[in-house]
Amino acid sequence: MLEKMSDFFEARLSGYDNHMLNDIEGAKEFYPFTARQLPINENCSILDLGCGTGLELHEYFALNPSAKITGIDLSKAMLDELARKFADRDITLIKGSYFDIPLGYNIFDAAVSVESLHHFTKEEKTALYSKLRDSLKENGYFILTDYFVSSDVDERFHRERLCELKAEQGITDNEFYHYDTPLTVEHEIEALFDAGFTTVEVLNNWNATYTIKAVK
Ligand SMILES: C[S@@+](CC[C@H](N)C(=O)[O-])C[C@H]1O[C@@H](n2cnc3c(N)ncnc32)[C@H](O)[C@@H]1O
Repeated sequence: MLEKMSDFFEARLSGYDNHMLNDIEGAKEFYPFTARQLPINENCSILDLGCGTGLELHEYFALNPSAKITGIDLSKAMLDELARKFADRDITLIKGSYFDIPLGYNIFDAAVSVESLHHFTKEEKTALYSKLRDSLKENGYFILTDYFVSSDVDERFHRERLCELKAEQGITDNEFYHYDTPLTVEHEIEALFDAGFTTVEVLNNWNATYTIKAVK
């Protein structure tokens, strides 16, 4: 049965960090790698899309404890856990969808997102990335670590399967349901360029999980 995105993560909070770090291939490397790509200047402003319980922030605060973080997530339980872990850090948490929340203009030195954006279409992502690009300062950049499929056939398969499941379960609303529909890396890069990022490069990968850097 499909579950609404926030319900899915609320229900799995217990054991979430353990699952991500131990069951996701490459996680013990890609969290620190992602954190190392973020700015290390004091008091810099970083936006985290789908921050969850803050696994990437745990690594980042070790490198830059003075960073000012704005974290957005649909799940209150995940955000509460993040706030508990990092009570002594400069963090602003916003509960809601990054598709709906205004991100502002020229505010952030960099943005990051880890394992959150593999549920959305290229068109949905292009609109989000355009808004995200606007929120970055000049020369600001976005570090995306997420997993991807290796072919257009797989990409289409997952999207069609989600549509079938929604039809079977009588779901007609436009809410987000938890079902992985990753794009190919090629389509992800196209979405970032379509949104106006000037350079987009793959920095690393661990099997299906890639880190991509997109500069404003
Ligand atoms: C697999 S977790 C990743 C969390 C964290 N970045 C990490 O790597 O541990 C995905 C997170 O994205 C959040 N999420 C999914 N869709 C979202 C949306 N549209 N807006 C805000 N958060 C979203 C979920 O609530 C969940 O906490």
